[in-house]
Amino acid sequence: MLIVYFGTKGGGGKTSLSVSHAGWLVDHGYEPPAFLDVDVQKLASRWLKSAEPKIVVREATTPAEVEKGLNALHAEHSIVIADGPGGFDKQNIVLLRRADLIVIPVMASPLDIHSALAGARELINVVKTKYRVNPKVRFVVNGLDDRTKFAKEMRSFQSKMKPPATKAAVRRLTALIRSAAQGVIPTRMENERNARQDLDALFRELMSLVSSKHAKKVGNG
Ligand SMILES: Nc1ncnc2c1ncn2[C@@H]1O[C@H](COP(=O)(O)OP(=O)(O)O)[C@@H](O)[C@H]1O
Ligand SMILES: [Mg+2]
Repeated sequence: MLIVYFGTKGGGGKTSLSVSHAGWLVDHGYEPPAFLDVDVQKLASRWLKSAEPKIVVREATTPAEVEKGLNALHAEHSIVIADGPGGFDKQNIVLLRRADLIVIPVMASPLDIHSALAGARELINVVKTKYRVNPKVRFVVNGLDDRTKFAKEMRSFQSKMKPPATKAAVRRLTALIRSAAQGVIPTRMENERNARQDLDALFRELMSLVSSKHAKKVGNG
């Protein structure tokens, strides 16, 4: 099963949330996922290598490398998470074409949100039509600041998005910034209840979308 973090705009939270998701799976009874880092900066690779040795990380830059990387990881792991590059890169087409679940984090900012939604929607529609695939697609409202007036508008907009947004939104979390700096899994940080709350709800909801026959929990959990 392939879960792709995608966006045509940088800064939505792909790297932060894909790394969090991979780490969360390890701690919640799933087989440790493999991770394909397709972002040019390779921040996720560095972060995960420091945070969790159980997660196999592979890097890919060209579309051919993405294809090869996915094949290799799928041969040995039931769950693969990919952090895609921003923009309309060809690598994204390969990822989207093969994805079971596409997650598009978008910053809850009046300036970012509309262009982020439109760009992602456009590319996904192209891929769906061209390759006749039908992945699950979810936007994730990220970086929400409940103290602002815009947050209220955002919450009501969230319920009407197409493709749909997850019910779980992620607040502005210093834990995401600190865990990146320290190279640790965000949901493992002490005294970060908000981060655990938001990310737990998000990943539970996302995992409920993908078929349980692939996303097997290990042991009797
Ligand atoms: N929920 C959040 N709260 C606070 N900062 C966030 C949150 N999500 C992401 N960030 C920060 O925003 C920036 C962009 O996030 P990143 O994960 O790198 O996005 P992308 O990979 O889509 O470019 C980073 O500095 C990251 O630490
Ligand atoms: Mg990134």
